[in-house]
Amino acid sequence: MASDKRLVLGVAGFGTVGTGLASILEENRDWIIERTGREIVIKTILVRDVSKKRTADLPAGATLTADPQELLNDPDIDVLVELMGGIEAPKELILKALNAKMHVVTANKALLAEEGFELFRAAQENNVGLYYEASVCGGIPIVQTLRESLAGNKVNSLVGILNGTANYILSEMTTNGLDFATALSQAQELGFAEADPTLDIEGFDAAHKLCLLIRLAFGKDYPFAKLPVQGISKVDPMDIEFAREFGYRLKLLGEVRNVDGKLEAGVFPMLVHHTYLIARVGGAYNAVRMEGNAVGPVFLHGLGAGAKPTGSAVLGDIMAVARDCAPNNTGFVAQVPDAAEIMPPQDSESCYYFRVMVPDQPGVLRDLAGAMAKQGISIAQATQKGQDPIGVPIVFMTHEAKASDVQAALDDLQKAGLLLAEPVHYRIL
Ligand code: NAP
Ligand code: HSE
Repeated sequence: MASDKRLVLGVAGFGTVGTGLASILEENRDWIIERTGREIVIKTILVRDVSKKRTADLPAGATLTADPQELLNDPDIDVLVELMGGIEAPKELILKALNAKMHVVTANKALLAEEGFELFRAAQENNVGLYYEASVCGGIPIVQTLRESLAGNKVNSLVGILNGTANYILSEMTTNGLDFATALSQAQELGFAEADPTLDIEGFDAAHKLCLLIRLAFGKDYPFAKLPVQGISKVDPMDIEFAREFGYRLKLLGEVRNVDGKLEAGVFPMLVHHTYLIARVGGAYNAVRMEGNAVGPVFLHGLGAGAKPTGSAVLGDIMAVARDCAPNNTGFVAQVPDAAEIMPPQDSESCYYFRVMVPDQPGVLRDLAGAMAKQGISIAQATQKGQDPIGVPIVFMTHEAKASDVQAALDDLQKAGLLLAEPVHYRIL
């Protein structure tokens, strides 16, 4: 089939995602024309350093530039595709493109979560699309699902593995016994990690994505800076092993629940029982489980990072532009949502896993249980691992407890001088 009119792209960034996009455009060229009636071509690619040796070939007919104006001032370019990462430079570029009435496709969750409202306002004022399917969970169509397919639902809760790098690291530590640093460097080599991998391992990338999901699912603004976030950089292989003995897997999860109109949300390493689907999501795969008031539970699973899965999501957005779909950027009439009513994190309730290092002496278990009981925390199961006069780990799991009560019990144990090392505690999903 011949194309009626070409859709011309200016692509900012030719790293993992930019090269993934270029390769799918080449591989599926005829299929894209069959679906949209148009040929989609990359004309100009913005990079930092044009002289850098590149591992991927440039798309036929495309040129490299280090000057953003070559994308912004070219009347041939229909769509700006931002795949650079960072905040300041892409924000400036995207704002200029929107104000020049160009549609924009981006994979940049950090920018949208931290500074997105200015961009959504500019898109609305200029009546153009700001598309961002690739910004959450790589190849999984979660943005489209929440914005369109489940738009008729009120979402009650959503929980997911939102970061491929962290899930890859935890999976490798759990199943192949890799140490943290080796697993991280493998994730970097495979193109899953952010340019600054702190964002992945400290939970901030998952938190960026959770902010976007909260807007899409609840139509509310839960500011990124207010989200409780805990990463996986301090995870000890000992806890992965103990969790496994209890029948659980350790996963970095982003979670939000509507509790009587208040949003309880956060990103934490959590124990997930091995029988739950989400416990079985390994490697760079992501998954999201949500509960709508009409549809019930929905579970989406797929690759959350990497060149082609992410390129697939970027291309889906570009093809929506090629089909002249009317922009529906936020999924709500308001492009800037109202502030969410936020449940104070210390009021949130969960079952917990604890590991404490204590002297192996009579009465220690009684004192531990006493500190928990004083805060109304009920222990569900407990075990002492090994025998050592210097100190032993005691691992126990609790029934539902309030975060503030957990903290108070740990403070009491510290004050009582019972703990030989920093205690570890994780929520249980
Ligand atoms: P990457 O491999 O580091 O590539 C970044 C590209 O952008 C490089 O080509 C770089 O140029 C260019 N660039 C960076 N800053 C620039 C600037 N100020 N001016 C001009 N060019 C600039 O990054 P990536 O992994 O493809 O990620 C790109 C975006 O997609 C990020 O927002 C990331 O969060 C998001 N994302 C990534 C994945 C993934 O699996 N990697 C998945 C979903 C979303 P040089 O080549 O000259 O250095
Ligand atoms: N660094 C991100 C991850 C890329 O590992 O999930 C996908 O957003």
